[in-house]
Amino acid sequence: MKVPERVTICEVGTRDGFQIEPDFIATEHKIEVVNQLAEAGVPRIEVTSFVHPKVVPQLRDAEEVMAKIRRRPGTRYAALVPNDKGAVRAADARVDVIHTVVSASESHNLANVNMTVAESMVKLRAVMDVATKAGTPVHCGVSTSFGCPFEGDVPLLQLERVVARLVDMGARGIGLADTTGMANPRQVAAALEHLMPKFTRVEWTLHTHDTRAMAIPNILAAMELGVTNFDSSIGGLGGCPFAPGASGNVCTEDLVHCLHAMGVETGIDLDKLIAVSKRVQEIIGRALPGQIIKAGTYARKYPLPDGVAARLPRAS
Ligand code: COA
Ligand code: ZN
Repeated sequence: MKVPERVTICEVGTRDGFQIEPDFIATEHKIEVVNQLAEAGVPRIEVTSFVHPKVVPQLRDAEEVMAKIRRRPGTRYAALVPNDKGAVRAADARVDVIHTVVSASESHNLANVNMTVAESMVKLRAVMDVATKAGTPVHCGVSTSFGCPFEGDVPLLQLERVVARLVDMGARGIGLADTTGMANPRQVAAALEHLMPKFTRVEWTLHTHDTRAMAIPNILAAMELGVTNFDSSIGGLGGCPFAPGASGNVCTEDLVHCLHAMGVETGIDLDKLIAVSKRVQEIIGRALPGQIIKAGTYARKYPLPDGVAARLPRAS
């Protein structure tokens, strides 16, 4: 199997994950989680979003969180914005990278940001202008890239048209998001095989949700084609409030465990990451879907049952 030496993980749990939590998570807890993730060596964190506070009340403290986190050198702190108003707020909060959002399907875009795709493109051009003036790089995410919970299949040419418009306005980083976990590995590979040769200067990211247990297989399919940037959520938190049936992102510690087991570096300390996941469970007061936190790593050994040790054949 062809695997890269190293991949870059972007932790999105404090944005994609926290945004759907019904009870307000204290600002100090959000800050604590971001700081601990950075301490564990996570190279990129999508900390929060600068969206309408009535639409996503959980993240209404975006400014305060950005102002109070400890910036670790080596970690890039990003925030999600849907429009230029969000971009101004994000630039004022000194994010390192602005992440934008538009969907490949019209229905999800309207449900999510109250705009048609064409209207979003106008706003995203304005985001680009704000970001250029502020000297902040922009990374563009495309929701429902592999399927829409309202429309079903999203034709590849429709995805290509959205990507082309983003590239035309200067996007260099594009994230293909499987918002409700509809993609399968063959589909991910086919989409990348179609898009990568057409947009050769783009740096691709895959943003997965594990709604149907296909997230890691999808990541492996993308990795075999040379993609090395993946979004994930601590503990497997997550879900889009504006996409019915959405559930958590691929779990960061499960993904890091899988990559490390295959000899792929992430720069992340897995033990520290598991400790963060435990802390997040405490904060939100329930167990999360991650597996490694329950099973331990593949290297875990159990004591032998009574009487077995004495009967083991000696190694010659
Ligand atoms: N941050 C804060 N306020 C914002 C804003 C932003 N990024 N964008 C717009 N607003 C304010 C406007 O200033 C305006 O305020 P006013 O009524 O006091 O004048 C008001 O919101 C309405 O502006 P409008 O452009 O008409 O926005 P809208 O009501 O159509 O909402 C979005 C559009 C994009 C702001 C809203 O749908 C949204 O925040 N969506 C985010 C969804 C999300 O986070 N989804 C999950 C991520 S995938
Ligand atoms: Zn998502």
